[in-house]
Amino acid sequence: MNTPGHRRIGVIDRYRDLLPVTENTPVITLNEGSTPLIESPKLAGRLGRGCRVFLKYEGLNPTGSFKDRGMTVAVSLAAERGANTVICASTGNTSAAAAAYAARAGMRCAVLLPSGNIALGKVAQAFVYGATVISINGNFDACLNVVRDLRGETNIAVVNSINPDRLEGQKTAAFEIVDELGDAPVVHVLPVGNAGNITAYWKGYQEYNKLQRATRTPRMIGFQAAGAAPIYLDRVVPSPETAASAIRIGNPASWARAKIAITESGGAIDIVSDDEIFEAQLWLATHEGIFAEPASAAAVAGFLKCTDPSRRCGSCPLAQLPENSTVVLTLTGHGLKDVAAVLDRRPAPVPAEANKAAVLRLL
Ligand code: F0G
Repeated sequence: MNTPGHRRIGVIDRYRDLLPVTENTPVITLNEGSTPLIESPKLAGRLGRGCRVFLKYEGLNPTGSFKDRGMTVAVSLAAERGANTVICASTGNTSAAAAAYAARAGMRCAVLLPSGNIALGKVAQAFVYGATVISINGNFDACLNVVRDLRGETNIAVVNSINPDRLEGQKTAAFEIVDELGDAPVVHVLPVGNAGNITAYWKGYQEYNKLQRATRTPRMIGFQAAGAAPIYLDRVVPSPETAASAIRIGNPASWARAKIAITESGGAIDIVSDDEIFEAQLWLATHEGIFAEPASAAAVAGFLKCTDPSRRCGSCPLAQLPENSTVVLTLTGHGLKDVAAVLDRRPAPVPAEANKAAVLRLL
């Protein structure tokens, strides 16, 4: 599978037996999945005691985020059921994936985006893949409410994670991690917005454990942005605020299931500030050469916070790791999706004359 000389295949063909597809399902794929699991000795150094840390870089999926895993399954099954239109609410990445897979399937796509709150690269993707882009006067939660009302309309398939097919596809990331490491990690860290991904990973890890392909399930740790932290606060946040626009969500669809994942796994839900998110994004780029979008950096920010000796809290799963533990962090989306978030916070390029001496002076 996906070894040298072999073509990279999509997640439906890779994990067909564990997905709700049949031989009659038309496979709509862009060869998503099989993303790199990059070891980070620098992050592991913060844990010591022989621990290893890996980054599952989902930004290298075909549309630049983990959403492609769920979308290949959701759009394939929608096509099988005869839908001709897919629709979703989105903070940007779901809409990019829906638009691409709908284009591939020859279906129409409409995306509902909160007005003014979407990273430019993601809007560009929805347009370029040919979706009808609808700017809703309201936040993501309002967009999702409209989409809920559209469920059941003839020929329309809702491809948000309220559609269980999405989570089926997304659970394949957990399968890949276990297949590559030989077992489940001891801790899995990821950002939480609408809470579908933490739910999907937990499902994947549980299924592999039941099938005895993993000897354990990891403790799941989710990080929300401090201004958009309904699960952490245990209440709806009517006006969520964070510069990590992908996770600016105040009433997550998979809230209850995310809580189950956290509780059953012995995990935790915690928050990080926007400043911590952007520091972590830069840390990751400057120390590991990986450019992830701000929402993804929330996981790294959380890891950096929880492994800072001056801030460590006693109940954190990362504070009580057995020796030689493996930790995986999911980097959910590519940094190029939201360049404004970076450029707004970086100094401008340094000007120089077009000669060697002028450049050497700046080194
Ligand atoms: N990271 C990125 C880059 C995302 O786009 C999202 C969600 C998340 C993390 C959180 O994942 O919702 O499963 O808890 N983006 C959705 C969207 C909401 O519309 O693209 P989650």
